[in-house]
Amino acid sequence: MSKPTKHSWAEPYKIKMVELLKMTTPAQRKKAMKEAGFNTFLLRSEDVYIDLLTDSGTGAMSDQQWSGLMMGDEAYAGSRNFYHLEETVREIYGYKYLVPTHQGRGAENIISKILIKPGDIVPGNMYFTTTRLHQELAGGRFEDIIIDEAHDPENEFPFKGNIDLNKLEKLVKKYGAKKIPYVSMATSVNMAGGQPISLKNLKELRAYTKKHGIRIIHDMTRVAENAHFIQQREKGYEHKTIREIVKEICSLTNGATMSAKKDAIVNIGGFLAVNDWDVFEEARNLVVVYEGLHTYGGLAGRDMEAMAIGIRESVSDAHIHARVGQVIYLGEKMIEYGVPIVKPIGGHGIFVDAKKFLPHIPQDHFPAQTLAAEIYLDSGVRTMERGVVSAGRKPNGENYYPKLELVRFTIPRRVYTQAHMDVVAESTAMVFEKRNKIKGLKMIYEPKYLRFFQARFERITD
Ligand code: F0G
Repeated sequence: MSKPTKHSWAEPYKIKMVELLKMTTPAQRKKAMKEAGFNTFLLRSEDVYIDLLTDSGTGAMSDQQWSGLMMGDEAYAGSRNFYHLEETVREIYGYKYLVPTHQGRGAENIISKILIKPGDIVPGNMYFTTTRLHQELAGGRFEDIIIDEAHDPENEFPFKGNIDLNKLEKLVKKYGAKKIPYVSMATSVNMAGGQPISLKNLKELRAYTKKHGIRIIHDMTRVAENAHFIQQREKGYEHKTIREIVKEICSLTNGATMSAKKDAIVNIGGFLAVNDWDVFEEARNLVVVYEGLHTYGGLAGRDMEAMAIGIRESVSDAHIHARVGQVIYLGEKMIEYGVPIVKPIGGHGIFVDAKKFLPHIPQDHFPAQTLAAEIYLDSGVRTMERGVVSAGRKPNGENYYPKLELVRFTIPRRVYTQAHMDVVAESTAMVFEKRNKIKGLKMIYEPKYLRFFQARFERITD
């Protein structure tokens, strides 16, 4: 046996309570998938063995967070937990003013309504479904200014979340800076495969936007995972802590929307955080219309307490190394089996390239939707489409046809073990073996907004 050459990552926690899972038979899965209209969002969770639908709200809270729930101050106004959360956001992220919201999209709604006027252009490093929709509903038009490398699953550039400043400059020249209320900058770009932005790129963006009086609004949903990649890959940051890097990222932006259901390991919660008093004042007013009073924003006091504790845990180096370590473990297994995945491996999941996996299925027959259904049928593992269904339609009704047609295997935080990851990789490899026999889908029901959540499909039989 060879000698070890390094210390592996391992979970910086031990397990105190477990949730038993239901194992299903192929016949049960076939029935469940048909009832769900070949949409993994419409499956009952009870029929799922390993649930990699999302890392959103699915993490395992720590005993500290569970204790925090008992410390909920359920006052309508001025809850102690709100002040604890505000203090934590200031300390860990550095943003001055906090408006809690029920989850990320609540914050996206508010900031879009405040900053975007009809006819405005909102550039960003690849879209996110809910973020772009709120920008569009406020009358804006999203323009993708991520670097070209991000659209190529094979390109191993280490910072595929970077912004192409030439693309931004073209928009500024064409429309004028006044038409651009802010750049919508995400850390760990979800739709690109959890790809990070570098601090170098962010500093350049900051210098450019400052010159033109354009704000940067930061989608900080997975900022700690982005910080991990900066620490591992960016010169000058190898000795900085995750906490230091997170703070530096935030300091280069004017405000942020947060879905705390990811990085901050809570089952529900989010916030808007800004540095400008004027924007804060308006947000504090709008939040009472859509979410609740400005000291609870749709959350219970206990939820805010768990969030405050989770934020602190999320910037621990040991936590984030194990979290991303597990994702990389799964990705490397997939690569070993020859499964085509987005590279480099991202922070929150593995993104399988459905166009390469099922090259015989045209995008109009939804290769990623098809593949997600097939993997469930094989093993009860639930994944999610991130391709043409998720991309939806433009405000003028035409379909968006994204270059990336992916199936996302999203890893919940602190929930599954390495053995679960083995089962997932093996099942994907088995479906890969029989890929030539797989046929596509047709959409038989399409909701108007965010169609991927509720659309229904049928197998194409000819
Ligand atoms: N921004 C990003 C980058 C996200 O990934 C999400 C949610 C949101 C905003 C919206 O936050 O769900 O709390 O309202 N992403 C989940 C996912 C749903 O599965 O990727 P939310």
